[in-house]
Amino acid sequence: MNEEQPSFDDFDEIHSVRPEDCDFDEVLEQALSRRGFLKGTITLGAGAFLTSTSGLSSIAQAAEDPFGFDPVEANSLDSVTLPPGYQWQSLVHWGDPLWSDGPEFDPMTRGTADSQARAFGDNNDGMAIFTHEGRTILVANNEYSNLNQLYGNRASGRAETTDDIAKAKAAHGVSVFEIQQNDNGWQVVKDSPFNRRITSDSEMDLTGPAAGHDLLKTADDPTGTKSLGTWNNCGQGETPWGTYLTCEENFNGYYSSSDPDVEIAPELTRYGISFVDWGYGWAKVDERFDISKHPNEANRSGYVVEIDPKDPNSTPKKRTALGRFKHENAEVVLSKSGRIIVYMGDDERGEFLYRYVSDKTYIQGDDHSDLLNKGTLYAARFIKHQIGEWLALTPETTGMTRAEISIHTRLAASKVKATTMDRPEWVAVNPNKTEAYCALTNNKNRGRKPNRGGDDTPVGGPNPRRKNLYGQIVRWVPHNNDHGSDRFDWDLFAMAGNPTNQEGLYAGSDNITSDNMFNSPDGLAFDRSGRLWIQTDGKTSNEGRFEGMGNNQMLVGDPQTGEIRRFMVGPNGAEITGLCWSPDQRTLFVGIQHPGEKSASTFPQDGTGVPRSGIIAVTREDGGLVG
Ligand code: FEO
Ligand code: CA
Ligand code: CA
Ligand code: CA
Repeated sequence: MNEEQPSFDDFDEIHSVRPEDCDFDEVLEQALSRRGFLKGTITLGAGAFLTSTSGLSSIAQAAEDPFGFDPVEANSLDSVTLPPGYQWQSLVHWGDPLWSDGPEFDPMTRGTADSQARAFGDNNDGMAIFTHEGRTILVANNEYSNLNQLYGNRASGRAETTDDIAKAKAAHGVSVFEIQQNDNGWQVVKDSPFNRRITSDSEMDLTGPAAGHDLLKTADDPTGTKSLGTWNNCGQGETPWGTYLTCEENFNGYYSSSDPDVEIAPELTRYGISFVDWGYGWAKVDERFDISKHPNEANRSGYVVEIDPKDPNSTPKKRTALGRFKHENAEVVLSKSGRIIVYMGDDERGEFLYRYVSDKTYIQGDDHSDLLNKGTLYAARFIKHQIGEWLALTPETTGMTRAEISIHTRLAASKVKATTMDRPEWVAVNPNKTEAYCALTNNKNRGRKPNRGGDDTPVGGPNPRRKNLYGQIVRWVPHNNDHGSDRFDWDLFAMAGNPTNQEGLYAGSDNITSDNMFNSPDGLAFDRSGRLWIQTDGKTSNEGRFEGMGNNQMLVGDPQTGEIRRFMVGPNGAEITGLCWSPDQRTLFVGIQHPGEKSASTFPQDGTGVPRSGIIAVTREDGGLVG
C-alpha cells in the first residue's frame, strides 16, 4: 500500500484495539540465553534430517553447485536484476486486455470498470500453470489495489465515481488465460476460450460443513449456499486433479458500517472487521459490504476457493472445510495412505498454522468432489525439544459444531491452545523428502501484545525473537515420514537478520551472511530438483537495521546444507510474490507486485510512466533449465 495507506495489519490494529500489552521481558531473556542452542539447532537439524532423505540425486548434486547461478548483490534499482546468463521479459501487466475487444491500458484514465473486467487484474500474487489439450493455461491471483495508482487519474487518488469503485471490484479476484511461446518469447493468447476473469462479483458455491448454515444466510441468499465474488486473493495451491486453489487473505478490509452505533460481534472483530474499510468504499455501491445491514456477509469470505481452469463455465467453489481465516496459500500433498493434506497459514500477527486432512483417500480418476469438503482441520502446537503436534479442531475439542469450526476457525484454534505464530505466510513441501517449510514473515508484536483473540504471544520455539522485524522459516518433518502423522520434529531453516550491524538473534542464523541477507520471507516454493525458492515482502529502506538488504528479492535455499543464495532483486517498492514454471522447466514465471508502493517506480518502464504489477518470464540465455 502507499504512504497514505497503512499496511493491512497496522490498519487493523488502529481500528480494532487489542487487549492490554503484556510484559515479556523475562521471556526475552530466556530466549536470548538459548542463542547457542538455536544456532546449533539450525545446523544439527539439517544434518539430522539428511539421513532420512530419499533425494540421493540431490545429495550428489549438492556436492557440485546446487544453485547453478552466481549470487546477485543487493541493490535499490528500479529494475529486475538477475544473475549473469539469465534474462527476463514482461508477460502481462495490470490492465493489459485478455481479449482483443478490450482497450489497451490507458495511463491517463487507468481504465474503467468495463475495461478492467476484460483485462488482467491488479497486484498479482500466487499463480500456477496448467496444461490441457496441449494448451498452457496460467492462473494468477489479483490480490488488491494501491488506490493512488488505480485512481492515479483522480487528484484525490481515491474513487470519485460509482464506476471507479466498480473498477476496483473488477481489478480484484483471479485472472485465467492461455499463454504460448513464440519467437518473441511468451505471450498472452488473447480470446482463448480458456481466458476468464473471476472478480469480486462472480458467482460462487459455498460448499462443505458451513454450506447452508444460518451464519452464511443473507437477504440475497437465504440458502447460505451462493456467494458473490472473491477478493484479496493471496497465495495459491493446486490439487492432484488439476484444479486451482485461490486463498482469500485480508478479506475484512472491504467491509464497513453505515451505522456507527452497531455492535460488531466478537466473532467478526477477531477477523479485524470494523466500522471502516481500507478506503475502498465498496459498501457505497454494494450494500452487502455494509455490516450494519448484512452482518452475515462477512462470514462468506476468508475461504479457500477451488477453480477449474479447464472449464471456463465452471462455478468456483468456496471450500469451507479448509477453514476461514486470512488464508495465505494452500500447499497440497498426499499422506502415506493417500489422504489429501492441505497446509495453510493464517497471515496475521499471533495467528496459527493449519493442516487439513481429508476423510477419504485420493484415487486418480475417481470423483474428487468430497475430498475438500469432508475432513478435519488441525492447528499446530510447537512444544518442547523441537517436537510439535497437530491439534484436531472437532466438536469434542472445541465445543463448536463442524460448521462453526469452519466459519470461526480462529476461535476454534484458540480453544485448543495452538501456538501463536509470527504471521504464517506460504507453506511449501519438499518434493524429494517428507518435510514442509513455512515462512513466518515478521511480527513486531511478538512478546509484546496478545493476538486479536487475547492469546499470549510468548517469545520462544519457532518464534524466538521479541519484536521480530526480520522473520524466519520454520521447517517440520512429520513423524513416520507421513504428512498424515499428528506429530512432527521441527527446526528453523533460516532466521533472517542483519549480521553486519545487529547482534545476537537479530544478526540472524548462521546461514545468513552479509552477502545474502534479506527480511520478511513470504512466498515459498520448491522446484522439481528440490531447491527452495524464497520471495520477500519486507522493508526496502536499505537503512539502519535493513541496511545491505536492498529491494525485495528472490533467493534460493538448499534444504540439505541450509545455504542460501540471492537469485533476483526486484524494482522499487515491489514485492516479489508468486512463481511457477513452464511445463518444460525452462521458464520461471515470477510475480512483481505493487512496484511504486512506498517508493517511486516506473516499472515495467513501458513508456507510460505508470508503475504496474505484472508477471515476468525468466529464462536462461542458453535455454537451459531454470528449475
Ligand atoms: Fe498477501 Fe500474507 O500476503
Ligand atoms: Ca504473501
Ligand atoms: Ca507479506
Ligand atoms: Ca503485497
